[in-house]
Amino acid sequence: MCGIVCVLGNESVAMPLVDALRRLEYRGYDSAGIATLEGGAIVRRRAEGKLVNLEAKLGQAPLKGTSGIGHTRWATHGRPTEDNAHPHATERVAVVHNGIIENFRELRDELSADGADFQSETDSEVIAHFVTRELERGLSPIEAVQACLTRIRGAFSLGFLFAGEDDLIIGARLGPPLAVGYGNGAMFLGSDAIALGPLTNTFAYLEDGDSVVITRSTATIYDSEFNQVERPIQKAEISAAIVEKGNYRHFMAKEIHEQPEVISHTLASLVDMTSETVRLPSLPFDWKNLSRLTISACGTASFAGQVAKYWFERYARLPVEVDIASEFRYREAPLEKGGLSLFVSQSGETADTMAALRYCQENGQHTLAVVNVPTSTMSREADAMVRTLAGPEIGVASTKAFTCQLAVLACLAIGAGKARGTLTPEAEKELVRALIEAPRLMAEALRLDHEIEACARDLSKAKDVLYLGRGTSFPLALEGALKLKEISYIHAEGYAAGELKHGPIALIDESMPVVVIAPFDAIFEKTVSNMQEVAARGGRIILITDEEGAKAAALPGAKTIVMPAMPSVVSPLVYSVPIQLLAYHTAVLIGADVDQPRNLAKSVTVE
Ligand code: F6R
Repeated sequence: MCGIVCVLGNESVAMPLVDALRRLEYRGYDSAGIATLEGGAIVRRRAEGKLVNLEAKLGQAPLKGTSGIGHTRWATHGRPTEDNAHPHATERVAVVHNGIIENFRELRDELSADGADFQSETDSEVIAHFVTRELERGLSPIEAVQACLTRIRGAFSLGFLFAGEDDLIIGARLGPPLAVGYGNGAMFLGSDAIALGPLTNTFAYLEDGDSVVITRSTATIYDSEFNQVERPIQKAEISAAIVEKGNYRHFMAKEIHEQPEVISHTLASLVDMTSETVRLPSLPFDWKNLSRLTISACGTASFAGQVAKYWFERYARLPVEVDIASEFRYREAPLEKGGLSLFVSQSGETADTMAALRYCQENGQHTLAVVNVPTSTMSREADAMVRTLAGPEIGVASTKAFTCQLAVLACLAIGAGKARGTLTPEAEKELVRALIEAPRLMAEALRLDHEIEACARDLSKAKDVLYLGRGTSFPLALEGALKLKEISYIHAEGYAAGELKHGPIALIDESMPVVVIAPFDAIFEKTVSNMQEVAARGGRIILITDEEGAKAAALPGAKTIVMPAMPSVVSPLVYSVPIQLLAYHTAVLIGADVDQPRNLAKSVTVE
């Protein structure tokens, strides 16, 4: 969840390091730091908080070194202070680390007994002291790193800079990703290729257990047994420009408004608009032979999976089990050989989802990933991948990636129904025709921005908010609550509307806004009954429905956001818009840091 970058260049590397860190800030922004060699000695600049603080320090005390390593931190062990900021260093070596060292206590005790002087509360610092001890015992830099790799347990991507070694950086990876970038008389390492975009378009991706020794002209890769190996070198055109906010105040607002366009691209890649049929890529399994589908994901992506459960069961008559990946991976779920496991992830790097994928592969499952970042580990490791074409999502709270996941999952469910003979060609056409309308309907929903902002005023004064929905609107209620919590820090819960009377109704009073997501569909009346129960207890209702729903609900005192009418298959995509805007405007009214909410990171590569 931290971001690391290493540069062996020909001019001062401080600014290229900072630029690359800016592109990695989505991985964490608790602190940042860089180390370079000045006259062979390791020199660091580190700062608490966002990258701008590090830039200010570098402005006051510039660094000239032409080799260096940098880090942007999402704190795991130790508070986000300057002392705990990376790189951690001794006189001999500096290290940047993304991940967690599980046996750091044991190593810290051992190294302290050997005389190491620890300066931070982090797990990562043991790596610097371990390698230093091995160097002092006479090992070469690569031998010292390999000795360390055989002792540390956990998850890591690492970059090492050695005093007196101006043409050497060593990297390693177990879990979190690490890309090698090949330049012209320069060499780079980075947590992802995007970080290195302005520096090179030629990359190799380390596999789990790999380490790499780079000089300005060579990159030598070793596998987990320390045998020299080759990894494919690929060209990837990554825009050098940092994605801009355009005329929007926040990336989140821009990404919410981009949805009609990116949904349109995503759908265009999976449906034939003329024949109104789905057109899935060839997949290495037959939908007809499946008796069960398991879906694993985390956070917002898992709510996309929960919506998909309704679709796969309804359209393909395929039983679905959805699990949050952090539970699934340790549940020891029995899996029938030849079954299908599906993983949903924006980043394609989420540690729990990756572990779930590997568990499924070990247990004879076909694995299919729905991923936004095509160069990610998940894209490479799953048997098959279907892309969401959301483009880079910079706001930490997921918006357009979520709705693109929904679009892909709807197409997969329809494709599965077609293959299994549970959907007639007419039914397929009807569903596809409805999906094709999604971008237009989302654009209409976006026009309700001002009304939604007015409702957000109510939420911004609340301490707790309840979100209710039934059917596919239930996972949306969970998503609405998560969006509000993560960016406005207001406590919110999502509930299945029918579950209200089994407990949470006790919370309802005049101070409690209740957001009800209820398109006018087959189960609308049931939700209205639940809404009446809230109204009877003085709860303040914000109802998101369409014209028919508003008429039928006829709830005096309720604030209603009136959406366009639509077929039920598209409602999860289109109703995402008002719940995202509600959370967004609430956070803006409160004055929270919308794009980089406290304590969060965009890519969660630790357990
Ligand atoms: C919430 C959010 C997170 C992610 C979760 C999984 O807005 O973005 O809950 O959905 O961390 O991340 P990915 O999709 O990258 O696997």
